[in-house]
Amino acid sequence: MTKPDESVDYWTYWTELALPGAAAPVRGAGGRGIGRAGESAVAESLRLNGVHHTARPTWKLKETVEFYRDTMGLPLIHCVSARGWGADNHPDFLHFFFDSGNASTIAFFYYLGTSQPEHLIHHPRYDSDATHTAWRVESRAELLAWRDRLEGRGVPIMYQIEHEIVESIYFRDPNGYFIEIGTQVRPILPLDIADAELTMRAAIEEEQRRLSAGLGRLQHVEAIYQAKGAALEALLGAAP
Ligand SMILES: [Fe+2]
Repeated sequence: MTKPDESVDYWTYWTELALPGAAAPVRGAGGRGIGRAGESAVAESLRLNGVHHTARPTWKLKETVEFYRDTMGLPLIHCVSARGWGADNHPDFLHFFFDSGNASTIAFFYYLGTSQPEHLIHHPRYDSDATHTAWRVESRAELLAWRDRLEGRGVPIMYQIEHEIVESIYFRDPNGYFIEIGTQVRPILPLDIADAELTMRAAIEEEQRRLSAGLGRLQHVEAIYQAKGAALEALLGAAP
C-alpha cells in the first residue's frame, strides 16, 4: 500500500491550500479556522476557485480504493461513514476522498447493501465518457512519467492526444470511469476567448433558427461553420 508522503504535514497543507488566509487552526481544541474573519465582507464579484471535489458512486469498494490510493498514489484523506439520512430509503454509506493535488479531491460514494442499478452502470461510449475527470500536470515530461507509471502498474492507456490547448492521456478506473491527465501545451489567448464566444453565438442562433423553422436541433457542424463565418464577415464589415 502506498502511504501519503510522511514528510508532508497534511494539516498545514490543506489549511494553506483550502483555507488561504485562515487563522492558524487549533487542533483538537474545537477550532478548525473555517469561520474566518472577514467572511461577511464578500467581494461583489464572486469567483470560483477551482474544484474541491467531484463525486461518483461505486460498487467496487476494494478495487476503487486500491486503484486511487495504491496504483495512482493519491492519498486517502477523508471518509464520511454514516447511517442513511434524508429520504427513508437512503442506505448507510461511505463517502471517501482522495487528494488529487492543489486542494482538489476526487470522491466516491459506496452505498452499503445496495446493488448497482442499470442506469448507473458505466457504458464505455463516447457520450457516457463525456462525464470524466481530467487532472492537470505541469509538463509533458510529467505526463509521460504518469503514462509510464500507469502502464507499469497494468493500467492500459487508451489514447494519448494533443488537442488544441492540452495534451492528454486517457484510461479507465475499476468502475470503467474515464480518467484523463493532461498538460497545457500553450496559454489561452484572447483569440481563443473571442473564437469561443463567436462559435457559441453562431451555434445557438443557428439552432434557434432551425427550431423556429421546425427543422429540429443542429445536425452537422458545417452549419455552425457557415453561421460563424457569416457572423465574422458581418463583424469585419462593420469594423471601422
Ligand atoms: Fe477532457
